[in-house]
Amino acid sequence: MTHKLTTITAIITLICFLTSSCGNEGVKKDEKPVDISELTKDQPETHGSEVSESDIKLSNPLDQTMVAAGKATYELKCQSCHRLTEEKLVGPGWKNVTKQRKPVWIMNMITNVEMMLETDPEAQKLLEQCLVRMPNQNITTDEARQVLEFMRSNDGEK
Ligand code: HEC
Repeated sequence: MTHKLTTITAIITLICFLTSSCGNEGVKKDEKPVDISELTKDQPETHGSEVSESDIKLSNPLDQTMVAAGKATYELKCQSCHRLTEEKLVGPGWKNVTKQRKPVWIMNMITNVEMMLETDPEAQKLLEQCLVRMPNQNITTDEARQVLEFMRSNDGEK
């Protein structure tokens, strides 16, 4: 008897699964482009406070410990969208980014991307070209500073 019930339950579950209309009627796939920020929206976000120019001290020569730490962050959290060449992937390639942008702009793009996309004309121009909003990666100011050091190294600074 118990066995039979289990079987029936299993069959009902299977039918439900196969028709897969359980509460999903009317939702058509492929209706709108995927917004990547949708995928990460449930993660807690660090809305970093805005980085100002005076917060950033550039080392000369480069701090190689920071370069290495920045590279690790890049490989973990940025590489899927950014190449180290000029080639665009999802986002722009990083080659020469430190020559084209100020450190404070880069730091805010990393830690406060929502703010930048809402208020900064250059960031908005990139969004128009890339058509994908860069998601907030929950990067601390220190980590962003390390990534900046890695970018300077990538641009040939010693
Ligand atoms: C899901 C893809 C994605 C990931 C992951 C990502 N980015 Fe981006 N990034 C973008 C896009 C797209 C843009 C262009 C602006 C826009 O459309 O939002 C961008 C722009 C930038 C820019 C400006 C580039 C320029 O040419 O001025 C910087 C700097 C940047 N990202 C840094 C980072 C860092 C650092 C990480 C990792 C911690 C990272 N991004 C992770 C997609 C991504």
